[in-house]
Amino acid sequence: MSSTTSGLKLTLNAGGKLKGKVKIPGDKSISHRALILGAIAEGETHISGILPAEDPISTATCLRSIGVKISPIEKGKKVIVNGVGIDGLKEPKTVLNCGNSGTTMRLLLGLLAGRPGKHFVLTGDSSLSTRPMKRVGQPLRMMGGTINGREEGNYAPLSVIGQKLHGAVIGTPVPSAQVKSAILLAALKASGSTTVIEPAKSRDHSERMLKAFGANIEISGEMGRHITIHPGGVLKGQSIIVPGDISSAAFWLVGATIIPGSKITIENVGLNPTRTGIIEILQQMGADFRIENYREVAGEPVGEIEVEYKSKLKPFTIDSELMPRLIDEIPILAVAACSCDGESQIRDAAELRIKETDRLAVITRQLSKMGAQIKENEDGLLITGPKKLNGAELDSEGDHRIAMSLAIASVIANSNSTIINSTAADISYPEFWQNFNTLKE
Ligand code: S3P
Repeated sequence: MSSTTSGLKLTLNAGGKLKGKVKIPGDKSISHRALILGAIAEGETHISGILPAEDPISTATCLRSIGVKISPIEKGKKVIVNGVGIDGLKEPKTVLNCGNSGTTMRLLLGLLAGRPGKHFVLTGDSSLSTRPMKRVGQPLRMMGGTINGREEGNYAPLSVIGQKLHGAVIGTPVPSAQVKSAILLAALKASGSTTVIEPAKSRDHSERMLKAFGANIEISGEMGRHITIHPGGVLKGQSIIVPGDISSAAFWLVGATIIPGSKITIENVGLNPTRTGIIEILQQMGADFRIENYREVAGEPVGEIEVEYKSKLKPFTIDSELMPRLIDEIPILAVAACSCDGESQIRDAAELRIKETDRLAVITRQLSKMGAQIKENEDGLLITGPKKLNGAELDSEGDHRIAMSLAIASVIANSNSTIINSTAADISYPEFWQNFNTLKE
């Protein structure tokens, strides 16, 4: 057993290696979008491989409150969404609770902004209530939307007073798939065309899925950064297979690379090019991995990755060009950097400060307890390796990706660690600890 629980504290045994096969659970971003587009399509949408985790469950719960029938989200079960059509959403009798999920809140703001005569209130947990929402409210206002909230509409609880929207051309200041997707969802209800122009291409799951459902979408510009929704498309229910989440695979990719003696095969990894920044970093590090059985599943590339321990890893640099393609992988890449020979630099990462936690501060605080040579600056991290980590009393601080990153760090430490708030992993990877115990020898 590589981890044992006593009360709320989990003991993480140092040493050992990762061996075997692991199948990655469904992609969180794609799961949210399949539920939302299924909800406003005509007819049934069948979703296989949906992520049965807290965040997509928050989206499903909110959609049920606005009149959409969705079958239970359970591991291994196909989910059926009974679409109500583009105009069929109801005014809810309750507050819409988005839990910990930024994607739920931001995408729903876009979905609901153009529903004249209807009023919606959105709330979330203590973390979500501190995350900025003006980045969505502001563009929606440019389309005629009315979104109010604390501190001039920036923080939940938020209220949406449905309006008749008009099209607009909107440049987003940061590459954010949540902001882009909110605008595209609102655009489905706008009179006239709406174009979103991103400063760099963020994950494109919304574009792919909108197209598959039948939206009238046009993608142009360098790297597909200009996305236009024209009126007139009719969304029809689809059968969707959700590929595994590369952001969940990231823990095993890094784990097997840095833990001596490890070798694992990671099955069902989504390899959408807007998400594969971590593969480029593994290449920069000189990691030992192979992608096999590369194929397309329901419009998204998928493969298997075999990855093996490699000594003498090279340090890496991440800047604004790469950042949108690995935004969620920074905590685990900070752990990887501790095993690289030299100084790794993570730059242009200010967005990390407004995730589920301030991830630059939290990963620095936790890895510092283990003796890592990690320096936090305004918009990034400087990490010098190789550094043998010490066992320590760790805390995920309630952030799923921090919990899983620290689990991997604990294996390469020279003594056992403990971690509190380990169940945060349930937000995106409910089987993480089970997989960790199975893979660890
Ligand atoms: C997501 C987009 C990213 C990412 C988040 C999921 C999405 O956030 O960090 O985990 O599903 O659209 P931003 O849009 O804030 O970059």
